[in-house]
Amino acid sequence: MKRIAVFLSGRGSNFRAIHKEVERGTIGGSIVAVVSDNPDAKGLQYAEEKGIEHRVFERSGGKTRAEYFQSIMEYLETLSIDLIVLAGFMIVLSENIIRRYQNRIINIHPALLPSFPGVEAQRRAYEYGVKYSGCTVHFIDEGVDTGPVIDQRVVPVHDDDDAHSLAERILEQEHILFPEVVRLFCDDRLVVNGRKVFIRQEK
Ligand code: GRF
Repeated sequence: MKRIAVFLSGRGSNFRAIHKEVERGTIGGSIVAVVSDNPDAKGLQYAEEKGIEHRVFERSGGKTRAEYFQSIMEYLETLSIDLIVLAGFMIVLSENIIRRYQNRIINIHPALLPSFPGVEAQRRAYEYGVKYSGCTVHFIDEGVDTGPVIDQRVVPVHDDDDAHSLAERILEQEHILFPEVVRLFCDDRLVVNGRKVFIRQEK
């Protein structure tokens, strides 16, 4: 069983989707901690309701990003974390935590990378006029949304969409894709070779 930490800053719908699968027993892991930079994140309430250990690390003045993540890492060490899941965590990770958890941090991005990295990806894809967008789960590297792609789901853009309806359609797919990738990770089925990630066949 893998020990999972979920990092989030807001709503936490991806966290809930993953947790549901953990509860259903389809994922060979358990969520042992939730970390947030935002004390008002809705995802924290859900953690509280479900009795999942959670902690707020506020990004208050004085600390560098490396120091901020150092204190988070000290917390994670006490919990022997195998996998960090970034589920709407809005702070760019520092080098020390990326190095410490190399190929063990995954993120979901609401666009088909490498298109539309960064914030408000759904709106920017909509305004660009693409016919298809989607979501991407990838490993974290030093760049913003540049790490090796694990898997993607494609979502069509309809003529009567607006940025909001497109984001909703993408989110539905996020809630399918992200738990699926967490399951593959927990079953040791992800093989990273440079920028390529291969999914090993089920034994
Ligand atoms: C999602 O759109 C995800 O793709 C992005 O942040 C959002 C988080 O939503 N990284 P939620 O907090 O999981 O509901």
